[in-house]
Amino acid sequence: MKHLLSTADLDLATSLELLNLSVEMQGVNSRDIKKLPALTGRTVANLFFEDSTRTRFSFEIAAKRLSADVVNFTAKGSSVSKGESLKDTILTLEAMGIEALVVRHHHSGAANTIANASWSKATVINAGDGTHQHPTQALTDALTIRQALKGKDDLGDLSGIKVLIVGDILHSRVARSNIDLLKTLGAFVGLAGPSTLLPSSATKLADAVYHNLDEALSDGFDVVMMLRMQMERMNSVFVPNANEYSTLWGLSAERFSNLSPKTLIMHPGPMNRGLEISSEAADSSQSAIVDQVRNGVAVRMAVLFKLLAQESGAK
Ligand code: CP
Repeated sequence: MKHLLSTADLDLATSLELLNLSVEMQGVNSRDIKKLPALTGRTVANLFFEDSTRTRFSFEIAAKRLSADVVNFTAKGSSVSKGESLKDTILTLEAMGIEALVVRHHHSGAANTIANASWSKATVINAGDGTHQHPTQALTDALTIRQALKGKDDLGDLSGIKVLIVGDILHSRVARSNIDLLKTLGAFVGLAGPSTLLPSSATKLADAVYHNLDEALSDGFDVVMMLRMQMERMNSVFVPNANEYSTLWGLSAERFSNLSPKTLIMHPGPMNRGLEISSEAADSSQSAIVDQVRNGVAVRMAVLFKLLAQESGAK
């Protein structure tokens, strides 16, 4: 395995290997000295053509904890604004000795394009491409669910766990990556959202599809994962207005209070409080949102370790 482009490429054994490696990295992160020498002398570039807080910082922290040299590239402020192409940007960085590219791009398929190009030799990790995939977010979410619901010592899959993903599924790379990985790990996956924000393949992708949030929430899901409306990817009007969306599809304080106190509340961030999720739900003791962010560092350490230290040179 040279690249990580999509959770659809991960079989059960590899998914579990990455989750269990992430648990080892959590151990490193709980030490006083949070450092391994694994990537000493290796250079990783974070290429962010699209905004990010969680993914960009956690990849940087992860690479530094593995002792890699890290350079950060954002399209704003680079020669991309002068018209330089993706190919020439990558050729330029690789000429400086960069071996791994962590890529976030608004174009679905950008990471695959680089990974499959004859002009690039670098290991490519997809940090979110358009509406396509965000594999390290899904690994982070799977680790968070397993540890919250099965215990810190569990090293197995997610069989028997029911996960409901709510909101703008159509434009969400997080949803797509989560659906692929959760199903590989044996979880039951439900999708809920307005019909305009569900992909036409929803019934094929998921085990259950709901067009009413209250009906979905009464179906005994262990995890409720709320998604942001991806306004930046919408080229049309998909919901009448924000108020109506919030009323019909938001995890309000009232809806949250009606859930089982064991239901785990998740959100990949960034959140729009008061729109898709209330502060009562987001800040509750049932919320795993901060754990998702914390676990993101360990997961990204595991991915960098596997691709660059364990499998360097593999195809
Ligand atoms: N979840 C996520 O990808 O967040 P950022 O856009 O802040 O990286």
